[in-house]
Amino acid sequence: MSTLKNDRLLRALLREPVDMTPVWMMRQAGRYLPEYRATRARAGSFMDLCRNPDLACEVTLQPLERYPLDAAILFSDILTVPDAMGLGLSFNTGEGPQFAKPVRSAADVAALGVPDPEHNLRYVIDAVRVIRRELAGRVPLIGFSGSPWTLATYMVEGGGSKEFSQVKGMMFEQPALMHRLLDILARSVIEYLNAQIAAGAQAVMVFDTWGGTLTPRDYQEFSLRYMTQIVAGVTRHAEGRQVPVILFTKGGGGWIEDMAASGCDALGVDWTVNIGDIRRRVGQQVALQGNMDPCVLYASPQRIRDEVATILGDFGHGTGHVFNLGHGIHPHVDPERVTAFIDAVHQLSPPYHRSRPA
Ligand code: CP3
Repeated sequence: MSTLKNDRLLRALLREPVDMTPVWMMRQAGRYLPEYRATRARAGSFMDLCRNPDLACEVTLQPLERYPLDAAILFSDILTVPDAMGLGLSFNTGEGPQFAKPVRSAADVAALGVPDPEHNLRYVIDAVRVIRRELAGRVPLIGFSGSPWTLATYMVEGGGSKEFSQVKGMMFEQPALMHRLLDILARSVIEYLNAQIAAGAQAVMVFDTWGGTLTPRDYQEFSLRYMTQIVAGVTRHAEGRQVPVILFTKGGGGWIEDMAASGCDALGVDWTVNIGDIRRRVGQQVALQGNMDPCVLYASPQRIRDEVATILGDFGHGTGHVFNLGHGIHPHVDPERVTAFIDAVHQLSPPYHRSRPA
């Protein structure tokens, strides 16, 4: 395997010294890029794009051709896992994801098995291999999965939701059934992430988009507990290096200390908290990734630069910060604004990494 030319991301995630703050964006390969929309049109649909390793590689690399990003993230989706469990995933334009066979009963849960990633999810693992080859050591490749709780919300609701009536109904009325579902998902995620790491993913991130809709107590029992199980089960060394694990719960600022105690290396944080406060609360335990409001990218280049400066100042001196948005980039952002964002992080961060005079 080739050596990494830029390992800033991996170093910052492990709180090792860096020359400047690394930066990447959630959903960096997506609809705001005209070249992404062209490749997706060529593929036919979003899922056809995910299922074609060469095209998935092509779109993974597109943002790296435009911007000096410090990481690539596998192009895929979190819902590939429930699809591989036989739920029948489709994306209908304007409506988001939908499952033909939602999970509603004990019989539905009993019918689920842990997918073998090298068979049912072979297209994802092949994409990891192709992307690693084509990256040729430019930057590290991040693999990912959804959290058990977030995957369960889509599986039980049968698609996206605002109220979570079905999944929370199951959680409150049939907690044992909910736990059986979450346990199958946790075991599936461990296998899936370990297959991505074996194929070349150099860091992994667990997206818990909907953990923040839970009470603090329910979050512990139904989301964090299973992410902790995943952290314990994931391969932490490969190719002679540590493989950092990042947990991201949108809206998780209220219980960040508990997340930091999960054994993970880094936590993603959204924009509803001050990253300096979060740093004081977690201390030396984990690195932090975030946390600019994605809507700042609708503002002028100067306003974007000011916001980057503020967040760098809030985090303060030293390593342990990976700059990112607090959630995925929006489809209507002008790609030129992203240039201002990435450049600001690289231009304004080096003073925070110089050793301080005694
Ligand atoms: O960050 C990246 O660039 C990697 C690719 C990635 C995608 N989805 C591509 C995608 C990742 C990491 C995801 C994760 C994902 N998928 C999450 C968790 C992250 C988060 O946003 O909190 C969730 C909840 C999903 C489920 C999902 N996928 C939804 C709800 C939708 C439709 C909503 C929408 O944005 O249109 C998707 C589709 C999807 N996944 C797109 C992309 C680029 C847009 C599909 C398109 O091209 O039309």
